[in-house]
Amino acid sequence: MSRVGVIGAGYVGLTTAACLAHLGHDVVCADVDVEKLARLAVGDLPILEQDLPEMVQTELARGRLSFVLGAAAAARDSEFVFLCVPTPQAPDASADLSYVEAALREIAPVLQPTSVLIAKSTMPPGSSRFVQRVLHEHPGAECVAVASNPEFLREGSAVNDFLNPDRIVIGCDDPAVAVRVSSLYKGVQAPLLVTDCASAEMIKYASNTFLATKISFINAIANLCESLDADVRAVTLGMGYDHRIGFDFLAPGPGYGGSCLPKDTAALIRAGEAAGYDFSLLRGVSDVNDAQFARIVEKVRTAAVRLDGVRVAVWGLTFKAGTNDLRDSPALQIVRRLLDEGALIAAYDPATGPEAADALVPREIVIPEAEVALAGDGRGRSMFAAPDLISIDDQSEIAVDRFFVAPDPYEACRGASVLVVLTEWDDFRWLDFPKVASLMRSPAVVDARNLLDPAALRRCGFAYQGVGR
Ligand code: NAD
Ligand code: UGA
Repeated sequence: MSRVGVIGAGYVGLTTAACLAHLGHDVVCADVDVEKLARLAVGDLPILEQDLPEMVQTELARGRLSFVLGAAAAARDSEFVFLCVPTPQAPDASADLSYVEAALREIAPVLQPTSVLIAKSTMPPGSSRFVQRVLHEHPGAECVAVASNPEFLREGSAVNDFLNPDRIVIGCDDPAVAVRVSSLYKGVQAPLLVTDCASAEMIKYASNTFLATKISFINAIANLCESLDADVRAVTLGMGYDHRIGFDFLAPGPGYGGSCLPKDTAALIRAGEAAGYDFSLLRGVSDVNDAQFARIVEKVRTAAVRLDGVRVAVWGLTFKAGTNDLRDSPALQIVRRLLDEGALIAAYDPATGPEAADALVPREIVIPEAEVALAGDGRGRSMFAAPDLISIDDQSEIAVDRFFVAPDPYEACRGASVLVVLTEWDDFRWLDFPKVASLMRSPAVVDARNLLDPAALRRCGFAYQGVGR
């Protein structure tokens, strides 16, 4: 069993650290977030992730997993060092490798010459050369081997995906190093593909952008179904039985989101541009996705007749069910647009609370603290106390004071003219719809996830709009 350092205790790093400890390795996981580390050290996870808390607690108790502050502390004395830091979207849409570079500069002085640096962060094809260049600037680190080991886990099922992957991909120019890296996965049953670094990196982008393409394709088909009186659910069933197509990733909805598909699609388009290739197909995928957000807003407008001053209930804020992650959530995109049009939003999500208001303000915008005194009203609501409108820039203003988080799904609907279902939480299917109808000003629903039963809702007096049906 090996001594492993993991840099970054986020979705990927924490899952990698816990699962490798579960497989028997001695794992030290580092982060820079002191508050997060203090919670993790006692087995308290800041993220909602099935099976992960139990695994972290078990491995902490066994002594196979520990948490440290700073990348160097995890890299020192480790035979293998996994890089699991963010690679967010840069302003020019490329992948921002600054976190990767900063982490590399921290660990380079303490890496052992026999260590292997394994990149799990998603980085554009060719980035391993960048990793090597940064390491080479540090005397002693130039002989550290570099491998790319892209991660394919999904949030919400991260542990299961890590331990039961469809494949393990190892990119490395030295076959002996690839064998050493593959030994870490002993106990995991999966096809192993060993290739060069650039191909491994491309496999990750090609996979994520293909998934995005599937979703935009089915959203486009769903939109056409609406005009041509077809039902997209029958269409996807008929398509899915063809094993060359399959059933997965054919659920139409409000558009794809999350911390990866949008930014990885943008980064591959950008990487294509830099390489002189216009990836028009992916630009189309991204355009269809943007248009889907607007289409859901249009459905709400149709249901409510107008949006200005109208109260809209929103069920679901996270980017999909099973996670509390709000990063790049389609629900927030749609809520922002509804707010821009003057709607009042009462939202409910089983995995998030008033903190969702913070996520409504685009991350890159820094607003002076005095202007955004965040206040709770004691009833589970959160609102910005002042001013009424927060100026973001000349084009965009977000009226966050017209957004509040309700303590339960019924309260969100009180006095609303329309209900929009934006995340596919199963709980929403089993609510008391006659009660929901009685609380609303007029019972109308826009079911952006095709989650609810239209016939049952119509029986309760609802006007129903789904996607592609
Ligand atoms: P995350 O934001 O959840 O976690 C990253 C962590 O790294 C944070 O806790 C941050 O504090 C920490 N960090 C940043 N700089 C550091 C440093 N110098 N030293 C130590 N810790 C540092 O990110 P994530 O979702 O886990 O994604 C990480 C990478 O994995 C990205 O490249 C992403 O594209 C890729 N990825 C993510 C997923 C997913 O489902 N989230 C799946 C596959 C691949
Ligand atoms: C995605 C990939 O599925 C993972 O394989 C990959 O490792 C990860 O990105 C990553 O690189 O970070 P994740 O972001 O957790 O995983 O979420 P998905 O389950 O892929 O969903 C992404 C978005 O697509 C969500 O908004 C979801 O609601 C939407 N979606 C998904 C649909 O609209 N329809 C579908 O049929 C499937």
